[in-house]
Amino acid sequence: MSTFPRSYPMSGGDDQHSYNNNSSYQTRQCIIEKLDLPLNSDLGTFRIADYGCSIGPNTFHVVQSIIDAVKFKQLEGKNETSLMPLEFQVFFNDQPNNDFNTLFITQPPSSEREYFSAGVPGSFHGQVLPRNTVHIGHTSYTTHWLSDVPENVDDKNSPAWNKNYIQCNNSIEEVTKSYKVQFTKDMKLFLEARAEEIVPGGLMIVLGQCLPDGVPLLKTYQGILVDTIGDCLMDMAKSGLTSEEKIGLFTIPAYFPQFSELETEIEKNRSFTIETMESVRHPLEDIPLSNHFLISMFRAILSTIIKEHFGEDVIDELFDRVAKKLAKYPIDFKECEKNVTYFILLKRK
Ligand SMILES: C[S@@+](CC[C@H](N)C(=O)[O-])C[C@H]1O[C@@H](n2cnc3c(N)ncnc32)[C@H](O)[C@@H]1O
Repeated sequence: MSTFPRSYPMSGGDDQHSYNNNSSYQTRQCIIEKLDLPLNSDLGTFRIADYGCSIGPNTFHVVQSIIDAVKFKQLEGKNETSLMPLEFQVFFNDQPNNDFNTLFITQPPSSEREYFSAGVPGSFHGQVLPRNTVHIGHTSYTTHWLSDVPENVDDKNSPAWNKNYIQCNNSIEEVTKSYKVQFTKDMKLFLEARAEEIVPGGLMIVLGQCLPDGVPLLKTYQGILVDTIGDCLMDMAKSGLTSEEKIGLFTIPAYFPQFSELETEIEKNRSFTIETMESVRHPLEDIPLSNHFLISMFRAILSTIIKEHFGEDVIDELFDRVAKKLAKYPIDFKECEKNVTYFILLKRK
């Protein structure tokens, strides 16, 4: 049995990839175009939820963009004096072991904050809020995280054993199949839970990364980098710093579907209409990424889960080795395929 935690909060430092900056335009536009709840005085409190919010600051930027767009929408074409100002309540959701203290300590001061904050610990694969509470839900860069390690990928007697790899890089068909089964289950649970929580006419924004159709993860720089981390773990096993057996039981429970696979999963849910599903440009797309930047980004993303399985001691040594390997064999970005950053807007029927 592998010993994975079922939640993998980012360790501090993930503010370096401020992914949401590029999507604030889409977020604002889609709210202005598609939100048509009653926005007058009948609706005293407007409720927003960010699912998988981590520790900020991205979540604070997103929430502010949503509030600005809702206020703009409320004023649009109306006589300002006839409107009662909305009060905003924001639910910050993440796994219970997320660092909620840091989140709330670093939120904008109350004098500048236009909303009441509430922390909602719990897995978004189930309902975390009462029925019909949320007017706009948002999630970014979260739904690739699976609720569990897919079946058999850590079983050395199975054809789906992911023996030499620490991720689903799409090189072994049986492994990909097993990951896909888990992803399908989890997406279903995620959307069913949001369908309960979001009011009729309410919006759900889903942002993240997937693969272009026909492209395996191992052809992207992200895939290459995680495979390099796996190679360095193997080198450490040869030096006796960990064991091959332990590596054989380790596989990261994250799955990047291809664009059309994702579309199929979203379409299966009948409670929402798909208002928008498009690829957007990622701010990091055209910037040459230094090894230092890449390593600190992936260290922030993966160190919780690596520590949990291999122990705290391996981390510094592992990422030193990754740095040395990348210095010797740099990733050839020109040869890599690009991930797709997607923006999906759903409306609750
Ligand atoms: C890559 S971070 C993204 C953080 C933030 N949304 C952003 O865009 O900067 C992924 C977050 O999703 C959270 N997460 C993963 N699985 C989750 C689950 N089942 N329920 C709630 N949060 C989850 C992780 O704990 C982590 O904080």
